[in-house]
Amino acid sequence: MTEVWILGGTGRSGRAIAAGLRARGIRPVLAGRDAGRLAAAAGGDRTVVAASVAELAAEIQRQRPAVVVNTVGPFSGTAVPLIRACLPATDYLDLANDLPAVSAVLGLDETVRRCGRTVVTGAGFGVTATESVVVKLCEGRPAPERVRVDMIPSLEVEAGVVGEALAATVLGGPADGRVTGRQYRDGRLVRARLGGDPARLTLPDGSTVTTASMPLGELLAAQRASGAPDVIAASSEAPSSPAARAILPLATALLAIRPLRAFATRRLAAVTVKARPRPREHSWGHAVIRWADGTTRECWLRVSEAQAWTGAVPAEVVRRLLAGEGRPGAYTPAALFGTSLAESCGGEYRVADAASRGRAA
Ligand SMILES: NC(=O)c1ccc[n+]([C@@H]2O[C@H](COP(=O)([O-])OP(=O)(O)OC[C@H]3O[C@@H](n4cnc5c(N)ncnc54)[C@H](OP(=O)(O)O)[C@@H]3O)[C@@H](O)[C@H]2O)c1
Repeated sequence: MTEVWILGGTGRSGRAIAAGLRARGIRPVLAGRDAGRLAAAAGGDRTVVAASVAELAAEIQRQRPAVVVNTVGPFSGTAVPLIRACLPATDYLDLANDLPAVSAVLGLDETVRRCGRTVVTGAGFGVTATESVVVKLCEGRPAPERVRVDMIPSLEVEAGVVGEALAATVLGGPADGRVTGRQYRDGRLVRARLGGDPARLTLPDGSTVTTASMPLGELLAAQRASGAPDVIAASSEAPSSPAARAILPLATALLAIRPLRAFATRRLAAVTVKARPRPREHSWGHAVIRWADGTTRECWLRVSEAQAWTGAVPAEVVRRLLAGEGRPGAYTPAALFGTSLAESCGGEYRVADAASRGRAA
């Protein structure tokens, strides 16, 4: 089989990835739960209807597509069973952005390698944009002593309900590592304050934004790409105001109570949001890296609207896998394809000599 399946083909990301694939001359197969909505999204392309993740896994094993793109979050629940269904015949990629999911997928490296297949996790905006700038700055250099990455998405919101995949990912809870802070210190993953280490950044377009610590898949990808013992991952989406940070300990404690989290997830999934234009023209990935000899370097990656870019990156990864450019094993995107992946998706690097601008490091 040479088919490329998009699991969650009716979703925001699924539709963006389908558009990215079609732009590269690849006709996707959309897989999901609702035959009517799938047909509407597929625009004539083939669809596969399966009522649950378990049924999707069974269909993958039965029909053996060439590549599976998984957009069904939360990925800490879906990634590992779907990868196991893909092996040994099918390459796999996903949009995981929470630490436990990215970590679990990378933990399958040896199994995936033995099957001769390629697995790519974190193939969305956040991990790809920040990991790419770290790879760019670390090329040909020894491991630095400290890394800070910042992701600054510019997201156009489409009208509709939030949906259960996104709601469950956002409110993942401590078991998903989403609402407890984390950073690397002295080479160890340790607890840190969620929303801590706020930094006011001036973007290359002149606008300013505040980012604060948010331990997503970016943290692990930046540590692996740099080898640095001290790493912080921050986001402009993190609650950075003093008031928000004051209520975070109570909010995260409440979300640790399973029935409360389930209730909050159901309520958030049903929330209707109004269409909203993107807040700025571009989304940005950013890193400031300091080496033991005192050198500090800073790099920005400028990309398009974050959801559109989350459509382009998986599509480009699929194109490269179908062209035989993958390697056996489990990877994050820039670890597999280097700095050129972001450029193939329209990204532009701007390396600054940060000797005088390294305040965030
Ligand atoms: N890494 C990144 O930078 C990045 C960027 C964007 C999104 N994401 C993540 O990607 C995921 C999807 O986001 P989205 O905005 O595309 O969400 P979405 O619009 O709600 O789409 C989710 C899709 O998954 C399907 N789905 C949900 N639960 C399912 C289940 N239990 N079994 C089978 N299918 C199920 C939905 O199908 P139905 O139509 O049947 O409901 C829908 O097609 C989220 O976890 C989000 O956090 C990551």
